[in-house]
Amino acid sequence: MTTPSRAPTTTHRTRVVVVGGGPAGLMASHLLHRAGVDTVVLDHRTVHEIETTHRAGILETDSVRLLTDTGVYGQGPARVLTEGDRHGGIFLRFDGESHHLDFERLVGNSVWLYPQTEVFTDLHRARTRDGGDLHHGVSDVAVHDVTTSPRVTFTDAEGRPHEVLAEVVVGADGSRSACRDLVAGHRRWFREYPFAWFGILCEAPRSSPELVYTRSETGFALISQRTESVQRMYFQCDPAENPDDWSDARIWDELQGRLAGRDGFELIEGPVVSRSVLPFRSFVQTPMRHGRLVLAGDAAHTVPPTGAKGLNLALADVKVLAEVLADALAKDDLDLLDAYTGRALARVWKAQHFSYWMTTMLHRSPGDEGFDDLRQLGELHSLVSSEAGSTYLAEGYTGWPAR
Ligand code: DHB
Repeated sequence: MTTPSRAPTTTHRTRVVVVGGGPAGLMASHLLHRAGVDTVVLDHRTVHEIETTHRAGILETDSVRLLTDTGVYGQGPARVLTEGDRHGGIFLRFDGESHHLDFERLVGNSVWLYPQTEVFTDLHRARTRDGGDLHHGVSDVAVHDVTTSPRVTFTDAEGRPHEVLAEVVVGADGSRSACRDLVAGHRRWFREYPFAWFGILCEAPRSSPELVYTRSETGFALISQRTESVQRMYFQCDPAENPDDWSDARIWDELQGRLAGRDGFELIEGPVVSRSVLPFRSFVQTPMRHGRLVLAGDAAHTVPPTGAKGLNLALADVKVLAEVLADALAKDDLDLLDAYTGRALARVWKAQHFSYWMTTMLHRSPGDEGFDDLRQLGELHSLVSSEAGSTYLAEGYTGWPAR
């Protein structure tokens, strides 16, 4: 959007400007509001764009608690509990058979199937209800002077220029973060994978009461869910795959081949209503604080989707961040923010390992030979036949206690 040359710049003042109005940014804004700290939230995406971008669907218990116990739903029913589905376990499927992992029995914990788009909707409603200063659909967002007096400039949807003066900037601007480049002296760690996920939504009834994570000779597949009549499924594919090259029949052939077995499992088909290829990488940047800038969620780290840790990790970051930041502002001592990176990263690296481990245990890499296949099956068999192995997976999947 071009800026009309004579439009005067509108100046806003707030304590914290949050760059990124997805679930992490909105949760940060919500928690800071509850701590009495004013925020302004900016995002180049519109509310509609965020609400219609399909993301993962599994919430750890602590993520659910963050929604239910911090006033997100006001006096109304907690939609995550009324609309979401509690899942007490998953199935691991390999060698043509499904093996149930009962999280309730193993660790006394469960997860909730509740799509990220719904989490966004709930948080957006909460911030709107509480008078939050939200600006979605803006352009030219630029962050200045993060070591002295932060200033964020942007252009509104009508083309008028604005600037926000704040004490602190929260960079919650996702996996293509511009904020993270402003952290001087940062270190970055990557792991690339030679595959991606093909994700679909289809109109069909559920094929299984709980999610099915499948390892097959032709690669990984995941049978997830959305509602009684709409299901979410993924299968491992080449990162260069073009979704438009895949007819419904070709998609079902691929999925049926991967789910085939001798235990009578039946994958129910239906019209495919959405298809896309999801990127796949592991990434961590440290530190998560530089001067008056702090990073949260995908801006600082991304995990591969296996195990659905991304949103949970972002919400865990924001919980710690809101606590540390409110304290630092109240005591007028921003050095207290230094505690944030260490506290957040402890969980981040556990989740990095968990997502990497689930990925490598269930996916086939180009060039894998007989040894790799048989070793992978050996790992899966030992996992499901061992109480200790199954418990380890259950702990990681349902999430580690907050620190
Ligand atoms: C979903 C996505 C995941 O990556 C996963 O591990 C489980 C579920 C989902 O979109 O439903």
